[in-house]
Amino acid sequence: MSRITLSVNGRNHEVTADSDTPLLYVLRDELELKGPRFGCGLGQCGACTVIIDGAAVRSCVYPASAAQGHKITTLEGLGSSAHPDPLQKAFIEEQAVQCGYCINGMIMTAKALLQSNPHPSEEEIKQALAANLCRCGTHMRIVKAIQRASTEAA
Ligand code: FES
Ligand code: FES
Repeated sequence: MSRITLSVNGRNHEVTADSDTPLLYVLRDELELKGPRFGCGLGQCGACTVIIDGAAVRSCVYPASAAQGHKITTLEGLGSSAHPDPLQKAFIEEQAVQCGYCINGMIMTAKALLQSNPHPSEEEIKQALAANLCRCGTHMRIVKAIQRASTEAA
């Protein structure tokens, strides 16, 4: 076990963890950040996605120790009920959520996309989300929500 300092949503946190403990476990179990979800635990579904230094990362297969010195953003860091991020607002307005299990990953992956490409084409959105799984099949509404967010931010 070692002490790890993590910068999450603009605040530093000191935690104790094995060097190979997945970042997802530390975020959910130590820091009580439940936005990132445990889906497959194998890097295959995207439910656990967070943003590290601007890139969408699957926190279930990313060691917490490797995140030291980097800027981590979770869903909680995007916005609140009172002040939602434009993407969160657009997901609500397009009613893009059914069970909601995949939505953390969809929003965080979309956020990383819009940060690097503020006005993506439909094809670029689909490509960016191609490896994020949704068992409820709300993909078309998710794409519309991302298009709405990119337009409204223009
Ligand atoms: S829980 Fe991390 S990719 Fe599925
Ligand atoms: S909304 Fe249920 S898994 Fe995507």
